[in-house]
Amino acid sequence: MSNHFLLRDALAEFPPYVPGKPPASAPGLKPYKLSSNENHLAPLPGVTDAIADAGRVPANYPDPKSTKLVTAIAAHLDVDEAEVVPGAGASEILSALTNITLEAGTSVVYPWPSFEMYPILASARGAEKRPVPLLEDGRHDFQGLVAAIDDTTRLILLCSPNNPTGPSVSTSELDGFMAEVPAEVIVVLDEAYFEFATAAEVVDGMDAYRKFPNLVLARTFSKAHGLAGLRVGYGVADPRIASALRQVIAPFSVTSAAQVAAEESLSRNDEVLVRAKEVAATRDQLEQDLRDAGLTVSDSQGNYVWVSFGAEDAQAFEAACAEQAVAIRRLSGGVRISIGADEALERVREVAKSFAESRTA
Ligand SMILES: Cc1ncc(COP(=O)(O)O)c(C=O)c1O
Repeated sequence: MSNHFLLRDALAEFPPYVPGKPPASAPGLKPYKLSSNENHLAPLPGVTDAIADAGRVPANYPDPKSTKLVTAIAAHLDVDEAEVVPGAGASEILSALTNITLEAGTSVVYPWPSFEMYPILASARGAEKRPVPLLEDGRHDFQGLVAAIDDTTRLILLCSPNNPTGPSVSTSELDGFMAEVPAEVIVVLDEAYFEFATAAEVVDGMDAYRKFPNLVLARTFSKAHGLAGLRVGYGVADPRIASALRQVIAPFSVTSAAQVAAEESLSRNDEVLVRAKEVAATRDQLEQDLRDAGLTVSDSQGNYVWVSFGAEDAQAFEAACAEQAVAIRRLSGGVRISIGADEALERVREVAKSFAESRTA
């Protein structure tokens, strides 16, 4: 028997994907998970019925083209069906984008810290990773991003709102940036959280898409639509890029249940947006309360808030929340707290108050 297998050496260098922790149990306290930016609200009424119906015929493969969902998305966005590519979450769209652009000898430019999948996908393709540090306030450093581009660059990833720090890209930032990017290099605007954005200057992905043929949108039903467990998202891209994406996406990756649930949820998009704005209002209030408690909080446009901490404080804050049966996400430079049930956020506020007091004592 062989004592090793012929795996790629590069695997040893892949950054790990660390999923949000489940909440610890604490006596008498209901546990809450605020560590994965999930939607804490119950699905919209028709959505669970659609899932149940699709679940009755598990023996059949799904429609490989997600025909009805693509038609619905295209009509909703007023684009051609050829421009819409469904996938198993935005993750599959991002993966496919790296698959059609990156290989050894090429480079990918992205802000950092940002979505953890970016460096993992770059590693998987053997491309050179060019993370560009965010500005102090958690925004993208567009000058730095431009400076990182050279003739090996095949893909640029932007995240608006940025996970984990929260700020969105503004229209003027994107316009200025796109003017500096060679027209043949693909730029991705990852809009996983765009429905939660409320600031006036936030870029509208569809407006930008219409201006810049090399801009691709990555969107998901996981967040505002609350369908993370079903795995469905989509890309919006120039038909030539879209057909390349279809070449590398596994057939049948979007399940029947995911297709019908997404279609149903999109048909109730007005309600989805109302709920997203409620989440945004809760986010703004939590940010204010945490600032009042003395913490350093960025301006988030997503369904989460970001508190900057040194490594020790981040660990202590995470542990104090865990004692209250609330799981939050500790990352380099701070902690990210997803918007969740009022009771959970109330516990976070209490932790923040006593945390700040213990620091000044
Ligand atoms: C910025 C960003 N993009 C993409 C995704 C992927 O989402 P999904 O694959 O669930 O659609 C996430 C998930 O957390 C995210 O935070």
